[in-house]
Amino acid sequence: MSAQTLLIGQTFEAVGDPLTGPWEEAVRITPSGGVLIEAGRIAEVGAAEDLRRRYRQAVVVDYAENLICPGFIDAHVHYPQTAMIASWGKQLIDWLNTYTFPEEMRLEDPDYARTIAARYLDLALDHGTTSMCSFATTHPHSVDAFFEAAAARGMRTVAGKVCMDRNAPAGLLDTPQSAYDDSKTLIARWHGRGRAGYAITPRFSPTSSPAQLSAMGALWSEHPGCLMQTHLSEQRAEVAWVETLFPQARDYLDTYEAHGLLGARGLYGHSIHLTPREIDRLAETGAALAHCPTSNSFIGSGLMDLAGVAARGIPVGLATDTGGGSSFSMLRTMAAAYEIAQLRGTPLHPAQLLWLATTGSARSLHLHDRIGTLAPGMEADLTVLDLASTPAIAQRAAEAETIWEAVFPTLMMGDDRAIADVWIAGTRRQRDG
Ligand code: GUN
Ligand code: ZN
Repeated sequence: MSAQTLLIGQTFEAVGDPLTGPWEEAVRITPSGGVLIEAGRIAEVGAAEDLRRRYRQAVVVDYAENLICPGFIDAHVHYPQTAMIASWGKQLIDWLNTYTFPEEMRLEDPDYARTIAARYLDLALDHGTTSMCSFATTHPHSVDAFFEAAAARGMRTVAGKVCMDRNAPAGLLDTPQSAYDDSKTLIARWHGRGRAGYAITPRFSPTSSPAQLSAMGALWSEHPGCLMQTHLSEQRAEVAWVETLFPQARDYLDTYEAHGLLGARGLYGHSIHLTPREIDRLAETGAALAHCPTSNSFIGSGLMDLAGVAARGIPVGLATDTGGGSSFSMLRTMAAAYEIAQLRGTPLHPAQLLWLATTGSARSLHLHDRIGTLAPGMEADLTVLDLASTPAIAQRAAEAETIWEAVFPTLMMGDDRAIADVWIAGTRRQRDG
């Protein structure tokens, strides 16, 4: 029999969707819970006392009042933008041209790409994020750098080569044919290898010609098991630009749909300024959205209608969008999601926020049968939260009368100091080597 590890603490479990039904029926926290890990997977979740009695030989790690959660999952991030996070004063198109594209050019150097991939993944793990769906750069080796660094850390990740053949610096452009060929080679090399999954990645309609979008659509139809990630309706000026670039399109989403880039494994970042037709089509096709709240306020994009799209049954994941987003922390991202929901008059409950950062994101990546929930058979990626990680949080949590009131200050005020421990596929993360 392989070794068993029993984690004891407060456990966060999800059995339903707290955005479309009552959250009380969908998620629960068990104050004296336990998670039994065996061979890299969760074998059992239950009451601490019962698990201790039945698995006396297991190695016990007692987290006391700490909250054992599924590892956080970032549904949309740009790892190459790690070193230019928090760049001042620009909105989307100027921000891309001023800060983002010059930084992405630096990844032309494979050594720099490897440095940034390692730096990004270590920062993500420091913040309790065990999986993510990342954009790379146009350079195929930026995908290799990312997946190699993720494999070295044992992480389940999704990523893809950015494809763009116009409206960006020459050094970052590919062509319809090279984007197709390079993406296909990367799919063969990485999709399903270890814990890697490939996402076909046209950056967004303004930087792809219709011919390139068609090539991406053809590639997706040949590899329907891959995700397809892109951006949709992030800023009003961007939407207006798309209208001029694609005069025949009914709307922004139609620029994707017309080229075979709308489907259930499609993941559309931002999706703020949607028309009723776009919402209908997203709902009909089963496509998923990535909500990027820190980015949406940082770049000045707007307030996504999370409650509205969730009510239509559209799956939504939670995402940092680093470096358009202003944080690597999914806790900070939950706080921003709460604040945007407040500005829309639809506050999110802490149960809904934690679910979005775990099961919700896993569902948007079609990985919810493997990660994102504490349940038997799931891969044992776990994040343990200290609910009193700073004096400010501790003094507020001490006043709490319910468990959710005790959790909420960490979601609103927490950062990497709240990450007590991280487990990746059943192995405890060793910090600093
Ligand atoms: N739209 C196209 N590219 C990007 C990007 O890198 N970040 C954000 N936030 N939006 C984009
Ligand atoms: Zn993005």
